[in-house]
Amino acid sequence: MADRRVEAVIFDLDGVLTDTAEYHYLAWQAIADEAGLTFDRRANEALRGLSREASLRAILGDTELDAARFAELLERKNRRYLQLLASMGPDDLLEGAADLVAEVRRRGRLTAVGSSSRNARMVLERLGITDQFDAIADGDSAAAAKPDPGIFLAAAADLGVAPQRCVVVEDAASGVEAAHAGGMRAVGIGPADRVGDAELRFERTADVDVDALLGCSGPPGRC
Ligand code: G6P
Ligand code: MG
Repeated sequence: MADRRVEAVIFDLDGVLTDTAEYHYLAWQAIADEAGLTFDRRANEALRGLSREASLRAILGDTELDAARFAELLERKNRRYLQLLASMGPDDLLEGAADLVAEVRRRGRLTAVGSSSRNARMVLERLGITDQFDAIADGDSAAAAKPDPGIFLAAAADLGVAPQRCVVVEDAASGVEAAHAGGMRAVGIGPADRVGDAELRFERTADVDVDALLGCSGPPGRC
């Protein structure tokens, strides 16, 4: 049987280590309001983990925009998002996040970030935890964003660890799907209707049981 002992943990950033998910929501809501598009907090749930472009396509639905206007809205959303991040600091780490990463390292496993965000490195710097990761894969590390596995596979390759020996911690359905597509097991953070396909699930980052996380070494579908 394949050796699936967990050697590395790949953490999603937004919604797992910090609540930028809320800032992404606020920025999209402002853009949708300005552009007269229907959007709310519930619709935002489906955007977790999706790239900036895929998020706007999802918000637009059947509404068609020319390429210039599409690019303008993306640019405006990012500017708004960066404004919201301006005051971010180590206090914005989610409860338990720093301890979880530190404990995984203390137990001799490698750590990485795998985020669809092109702002991921900046956010990690602001949180003051960049040096806690052996690899960082972001929206520029792969040709396609989640649910494509490219970002997680880039993180695993950078770590030098086979995908089946990596576990991904994710708050988004698209991220759980990406982990599975890459041959990795997934630990979901959040409600079952969002991350129910993950092999293990916890309500919040602070609830993650490190023994269970590092013991998640069964075949796909089981821990
Ligand atoms: C993360 C978030 C998404 C966001 C994406 C791109 O995956 O969960 O909500 O759209 O990153 O982020 P960016 O900072 O590049 O716009
Ligand atoms: Mg996320």
